[in-house]
Amino acid sequence: MRTLSIIITALIATTTWAQGTFTPGAVWNDTDGNPINAHGGGIMYHDGTYYWYGEYKGHHTYRSPGVGWECYRTDAGGVSCYSSRDLYNWKWEGVVLEPDTVNPYSDIHPTMVIERPKVVYNEKTGKFVMWMHIDNHNYGKATAGVAVSDSPTGKFTYIESMRPNGSESRDITLYKDDDGKAYILFSSEGNGTMHICLLTDDYLRPTTEVARNFIGQSREAPAVFKHNGKYYIVSSGCTGWSPNEADCAVADKITGPYKQLGNPCRGNNADKTFYGQSTFVLPVHGKPGTHIMMFDRWNKRKLDDSRYIWLPIDFDGEKFTITWNDTWSLR
Ligand code: GAL
Repeated sequence: MRTLSIIITALIATTTWAQGTFTPGAVWNDTDGNPINAHGGGIMYHDGTYYWYGEYKGHHTYRSPGVGWECYRTDAGGVSCYSSRDLYNWKWEGVVLEPDTVNPYSDIHPTMVIERPKVVYNEKTGKFVMWMHIDNHNYGKATAGVAVSDSPTGKFTYIESMRPNGSESRDITLYKDDDGKAYILFSSEGNGTMHICLLTDDYLRPTTEVARNFIGQSREAPAVFKHNGKYYIVSSGCTGWSPNEADCAVADKITGPYKQLGNPCRGNNADKTFYGQSTFVLPVHGKPGTHIMMFDRWNKRKLDDSRYIWLPIDFDGEKFTITWNDTWSLR
């Protein structure tokens, strides 16, 4: 009996048990046993594998010097990537867009801000294209950045940052529609209004086709998805790292106009988005109509210990809800 318990204890110590559940808000480890460091992330499905891209937060959090508001930050560590076939077990693929530690004027120098990276595949060029929020230490630069790679696991080559059509760009997401057209959606005009901008066919530049939505409503952290032919945007209010109430909105076209449906969250702390902030909605491959809502639960004083809250999206007609669950699995 004693021998059996020693064997079991040894097995538990040495085996990486495959995970089959989501535990929102807990520490999520990768398959090497290290906490997943991919914040403000997004997921691309490609050839049977999910790739999770996110902000690689440095291990030291500090207040940005000389900035009045609660501007907590870490050195920009670039963009990390993890891969998975089942969405529960994530393998570290490394930092796929590395910060430029040599050129102090680079957009991706560690003193800069690299946030909310998202990646899509361009069928016409065969390239993987990443868009992200590029800023300086006080978020005054307000630009969108673009990088490109031949492989989903990089390395990505940084191209440039810009203000699309001269407009400020902070919180950003990237959406590729079924017709192959891709769009960036970003908080603009002092974070007051969201711009939805069609990209060129190679996804590397903004076009001049821009729609303004949520005018003067200060919505941030956009996450877009499509269900039954309609487009949905989940977003947050504008309170920095501190949580606020989420909103969702629906439209017949990606460019809007959007009809606001109110807060989709249900359960404890639903009025504070479960202490989280939207980052992405993941359509589950092979399960039509199944979507996972991804939130970040920011820990502003220790940003690399920010956690992940993934919850299922439940539809009822045109509307949907997102209900807190300590532990859940895909059905
Ligand atoms: C949030 C934004 C985050 C980050 C943070 C900085 O509003 O969604 O991505 O930029 O502000 O305070």
